[in-house]
Amino acid sequence: MKFKKKILCIGAGYVGGPSMAMIAYKCPDYKITVVDINQERIDAWNSSQLPVYEPGLDKIIKMCRGKNLFFSKDIKNQIKENDIIFVSVNTPTKTYGAGADMAADLQYVEKTARQILKYSQSSKIVIEKSTLPVKTALAMEKILSSAKGKIKFEILSNPEFLAEGTAVSDLENPDRVLIGSRETKSGLKARARLIEIYSRWVPLNKIMTSNIWSCELSKLVANAFLAQRVSSINSISALCEKTDADINEVANAVGMDSRIGNKFLNAGIGFGGSCFKKDILNLVYLCNYYNLREVASYWESVVKINQYQQERFIANILHTMFGTLAGKKICILGFAFKANTSDTRESPAIYISQKLLAEHAEINISDPRALNNAEIDLSGVKGKISYIEDPYKAAAGCHALVILTDWDLYRKLDFRKIYISMVKPAFLFDGRNVIDRKKCHSIGFNIYVIGKRALTHF
Ligand code: UDX
Ligand code: UDX
Repeated sequence: MKFKKKILCIGAGYVGGPSMAMIAYKCPDYKITVVDINQERIDAWNSSQLPVYEPGLDKIIKMCRGKNLFFSKDIKNQIKENDIIFVSVNTPTKTYGAGADMAADLQYVEKTARQILKYSQSSKIVIEKSTLPVKTALAMEKILSSAKGKIKFEILSNPEFLAEGTAVSDLENPDRVLIGSRETKSGLKARARLIEIYSRWVPLNKIMTSNIWSCELSKLVANAFLAQRVSSINSISALCEKTDADINEVANAVGMDSRIGNKFLNAGIGFGGSCFKKDILNLVYLCNYYNLREVASYWESVVKINQYQQERFIANILHTMFGTLAGKKICILGFAFKANTSDTRESPAIYISQKLLAEHAEINISDPRALNNAEIDLSGVKGKISYIEDPYKAAAGCHALVILTDWDLYRKLDFRKIYISMVKPAFLFDGRNVIDRKKCHSIGFNIYVIGKRALTHF
């Protein structure tokens, strides 16, 4: 079959894989190839066990793979063959040198730009999909503009706003698609080619265009605002616990104001995931770089509250369980950083588990999807850890239940059955506000929910 367009994506991760699958699904006359330096990842995308769990993704992959969607390891030839290239490689926080623990590590982005330069034999549009510090496109542009002869590269910024767990519906019905370009003749032409792809399924009034720097900054700011909302409600949850106010009632009352809105107001043990912390630290670094100290410290406080929320949660467990966890068994329900994903990157569960183990508690970890990642995250951590998928088996014989992920299945557990199997007095710490607290209290549990008054039997 002769394809109308050929598109390449470098980086087959949580962003690259699903977003290219959606283009393939919506544009059967385009050929989409996704490459990655990680061989295992590519093998997994080509198998029945996809490397990321996303509701609805399997179906799309099955429909398109081998027809107009291909996963390949051949980066060199794929760069040669495609003239529209998305870059979706990871941009973790730097762990070394200048800007360590703050700035984004751009080595993979730069390496990818150099690969594109090395193997290209014709002009190309290169699209940044990874979330990047402002002006990264400029660095890519400088590298790529060193190409000899007639080959020209046009750089676009097209950040992805999908959230894990809802990636398929976010990609299918995005709130907006943002495309940044140079406002030159060739920049605008490249922009139009990208609009042509998205307009296959996204209404034109949702496709926004801007200059590249606004586009790069908008993505960082969107994530910072979302994280800020979570930290804001979490800070108030601490106050609720002291004043007998109920965080759900406060969130509902506040969220009814249409200027504030009711989404993203669930108090919990703090945000995780690969983006929020990294992107805010990135923003903080940028502000400091431009000597905007007050702005930097304003955004840094969002990360500080997130850490504080986890510390507070652990301190409460320790204090409530009579000041010692040594030899006690604790069942952790949920290890993923949010429901409906197997992803555990920056999951609060990692830190909380480590702290419980440091207190010499024994932990049974249960999660419907994330146990493999949990084992990797905690490998090398000292202490007794068991990984048990069945929540009933994981809870049996434990002194406390600790809910760390908002999986729907935890709302539907038979808590009476669990209570009977536990050591008494049985404690239930709900870090995600998922349980029916009065019902669980009446069963016999001592209940501690984030942002609510404790219900105990003492
Ligand atoms: C990544 C970034 O973390 C995020 O900031 C950005 O918005 C989108 O890209 P994600 O897809 O979740 O998000 O990352 P990850 O799942 O780690 O996937 C990146 C992939 O790029 C990995 O599979 C990695 O092997 C691959 N990669 C990395 C390359 O193919 N080439 C490289 O040089 C480096
Ligand atoms: C986020 C952004 O939502 C998305 O637009 C961007 O592209 C990538 O980063 P993601 O990290 O996948 O997506 O998940 P998100 O739903 O935003 O949740 C992030 C964290 O905040 C999770 O740990 C979640 O549990 C937490 N959260 C979210 C809360 O604690 N309370 C809320 O009300 C909402």
